[in-house]
Amino acid sequence: MSGGPRTVVLASGSGTNLQAIIDQARRGTLDIRLHAVVSDRPEAGALARARDAGVEARVVDYQDGRPRAACDAALGALLRTLDPELVVLAGFMRILPPDVVDAWPGRMLNIHPSLLPRYPGLHTYRRALAAGDSHHGSTVHFVIPALDAGPGILQYRIAIRPGDDEASLRRRVLAGEHLIYPQAIGWVATGRCTMRAGAAWLDGERLDAPLTIDG
Ligand code: GRF
Repeated sequence: MSGGPRTVVLASGSGTNLQAIIDQARRGTLDIRLHAVVSDRPEAGALARARDAGVEARVVDYQDGRPRAACDAALGALLRTLDPELVVLAGFMRILPPDVVDAWPGRMLNIHPSLLPRYPGLHTYRRALAAGDSHHGSTVHFVIPALDAGPGILQYRIAIRPGDDEASLRRRVLAGEHLIYPQAIGWVATGRCTMRAGAAWLDGERLDAPLTIDG
């Protein structure tokens, strides 16, 4: 993990997306230097994955009794200290304050488990099933202060099968996330993909909608 932008990953959960990023960075197929992993939960599996990979693991514990604003300020201060060139949200379950988002314009990415702009927010699998949608998936997008609303870069889309439930949908979508997230991060890390004028651009072309990979 030697070349590319100094990258900090934020994660709250088990960290399977983080693992996909670590694996590709190690193989040399993803051009980033993974500088640190930060979590809001001391017990997050993502932290153990970071330590196993020899990556600095840091916590801003949002459940330690401090007011929310103090936690947000501590997170912002930690990020400024770590000074990443690229910030990757990989299952980070906190809404970042606007001043933190605005500090990395076009340098902060998120992956959201829906075909944005459908279903920003939580419970996306449940909502897609309840709506009777034909497809579901996940979207990599640039982060802007509005929740799950930044310009989309790359989507993974699967057909919803009869008999699918939240768990089966989540399993198939997550497998696709492990493909599209390192891919899109690589595009941004190498400068192929940028955010300008409220849109994502890839190889100089404006993306009116995210590129789509069908699973
Ligand atoms: C993924 O479903 C991602 O779309 C969402 O959070 C989940 C993270 O999973 N933002 P993992 O911790 O990477 O396994």
